[in-house]
Amino acid sequence: MAENGDALDADLRVPSCERCPALVESRSQIVDGVGPTDADLLFVGEGPGANEDEQGEPFVGRSGDVLDEALRDAGLARADVRITNCVRCRPPDNRDPTAEELANCRGHLESEVARLDPELIVTLGKVPSEHLLDRSVAITSESGDVADARIADASRRVLLSVHPAATLYDRSQRDGFFETIARAGELSGVGGAAGGSGQSRLGEY
Ligand code: URA
Repeated sequence: MAENGDALDADLRVPSCERCPALVESRSQIVDGVGPTDADLLFVGEGPGANEDEQGEPFVGRSGDVLDEALRDAGLARADVRITNCVRCRPPDNRDPTAEELANCRGHLESEVARLDPELIVTLGKVPSEHLLDRSVAITSESGDVADARIADASRRVLLSVHPAATLYDRSQRDGFFETIARAGELSGVGGAAGGSGQSRLGEY
């Protein structure tokens, strides 16, 4: 069972779900979001991979190592942010979640966003970016951009990012990814020396 660091998120955990037959088949457990329920920064990935499925926590494999490193570099602690996924069950063979699976899981993500009311949502990769912005996204060129998204009848600020795994396949994406995570800290006002000031700068964008 994942350490959420916040017992207050019991209502955000999904105890059981059988909506997506292929995912019920491929998962070993449901992987809920982790982190404080009053976090100003919410990171949204695509869906659990093998490590996350095994450990029951988002971003704990190699992608998670890169994300943790970028957070540290930005003066942010993993414990200060919330991390979740568009779908909570591991898709078979690490394929992208289907439109139907994304729709089936949307309510859980919307509840999480509504409960946190974060200053900023950071979408990690093309799938969460397109899912939340509801348009096609050229993630490599749009990474670092801030956009508005309508989520559960509220307007939310979204910072688009490449997926941390992209930096493993293509080293040239690493600096840009680290800069985007630093920007997340700066914009949201979360983080230490290299990160935020405690004061959100989103009004400027
Ligand atoms: N990739 C994701 O999109 N989410 C995870 O939790 C892990 C890897």
